[in-house]
Amino acid sequence: MADTQISDHVHAAFDAAGDIDGALLPVLHEIQARCGYIPSDAVPLVADRLNLTRAEVHGVITYYHHFRQKPAGKVVVQVCRAEACQSVGADQLAEHVVKSLGCDFHETSRDGSVTLEPVYCLGHCACGPSIMVGDDVHARVTPERFDKLMQRAGSAA
Ligand code: FES
Repeated sequence: MADTQISDHVHAAFDAAGDIDGALLPVLHEIQARCGYIPSDAVPLVADRLNLTRAEVHGVITYYHHFRQKPAGKVVVQVCRAEACQSVGADQLAEHVVKSLGCDFHETSRDGSVTLEPVYCLGHCACGPSIMVGDDVHARVTPERFDKLMQRAGSAA
């Protein structure tokens, strides 16, 4: 991403977040919504504007797994790792997902098609294991159902 684009996104993120104290998290969320990740060149711009050090901004980005430091794959898959889903087979599902995508959590598949992320509850606890594929939540996901969802996501991409 070009420097001018990053700078435009950072300015727009500050405009969207408003003039509030402690704007770091809302601004980072806004930058990720606009860019798909937090470009490293955005860090000094954010730090200067909020009178923080680059290390402080970087520390927040790395602390919250939600923030990506690299562009995501075409599709983001989030697998619920919280207790209710674990009690109905989320661990076995997660094992299958990692194996079938060929990448671990917080990684993107080699072909760039899928980024895999853990999530801790999607609000569908009564019908787990739950996952999100893009913006869609899917409940009672079995390994077989996951494979079908990935086929569908691949043909839609
Ligand atoms: S625990 Fe998985 S959706 Fe709530």
